[in-house]
Amino acid sequence: MAKYLITGGAGFIGSTVANLLLQNDQEVTVIDDLSMGKRDNLADSSHLRFLKHTITDHEFVNHLLDQEKFDYILLIGAVASVADSIADPARTHAINSEANFNILEHLRINKLPLRALLFISSAAVYGNLPGVPKSETSPVEPLTQYAVDKYATERNVLNYCHLYNLPTVAVRAFNVYGPRQNPQSPYSGVLSIITKCLMNDQVFKQYGDGEQVRDFTYVMDVANCILGLLKEPRAIGEVFNLGTGHKATLNEVIDIIEEVSHKKLQRQILPERSGDIKYSYGDLSKLNNLGLTSKVDLKTGIKKYWDYLCENC
Ligand code: UD1
Repeated sequence: MAKYLITGGAGFIGSTVANLLLQNDQEVTVIDDLSMGKRDNLADSSHLRFLKHTITDHEFVNHLLDQEKFDYILLIGAVASVADSIADPARTHAINSEANFNILEHLRINKLPLRALLFISSAAVYGNLPGVPKSETSPVEPLTQYAVDKYATERNVLNYCHLYNLPTVAVRAFNVYGPRQNPQSPYSGVLSIITKCLMNDQVFKQYGDGEQVRDFTYVMDVANCILGLLKEPRAIGEVFNLGTGHKATLNEVIDIIEEVSHKKLQRQILPERSGDIKYSYGDLSKLNNLGLTSKVDLKTGIKKYWDYLCENC
């Protein structure tokens, strides 16, 4: 049984990973301030230790690292929204950058034992430069505090491998969706907002013409690929796109949700959001070459998500 630390482990992606590990009888410590996550997202298990705390409390986190000497660390805690980061860049920087840097430094200075550390970076690092699909060697253009912090932290995480031999890996996740995504903020993931609007007969605010392109990735695929990478020696020191490799416009996604839910979405069309990216989808060959792939196609994933919402509302 290995010991895992998951920052943001009560959130949407973090709890999916945590529950998967708990199902496999691993020992999981979750640190989460519940700003977006929920305690109920986590399965009941004697192998779970839940700490309601912010990762910006460096002293607290460092003490925990010293005490527990985790085998695996997953840096998932983050301000997850691009738009949120535009509204509050300082808070985003403290959480998405400084808190993670502190962990890297503490591991380095104290030479703590570690099997692997994984950081979830973002496809947002690619920005709006021409040329899709994006591969890991494509030029980057981080356009927001969110993207700047994701890129900087990703580089730090990988440099701590190359310079100090810390076993690290990073993934650039493309739009993740699925059960437990929190639609509470107007800046939440668009699929969680659309499904909430459909459930509650609310009007969906659509920014732009709906022709923005994304690679929507089902959260269980993300969790499985992440755990695969943690155990893959060839992944250490590398960054990987993490998506499905398939693209869809927002309009196409709305068509699928309407078909699956048998409901019609009411839309209010508003101007494009500033800092928004028009085309975002990636080349997944680097990940796929390690035998790791996303298995859930968009329609199947949306159906699973909708069924989950119907069962849990
Ligand atoms: C998303 C993720 C981000 C991730 C990135 C990687 C969220 C909140 N953001 O950013 O964490 O790193 O993918 O690819 O999950 N939209 C509307 N109406 C709404 C909300 C959104 O029209 O009410 C539009 C947005 O303007 C955007 C698209 O839908 O064009 C997707 O938005 P969003 O879900 O916020 O994701 P990204 O900005 O792509």
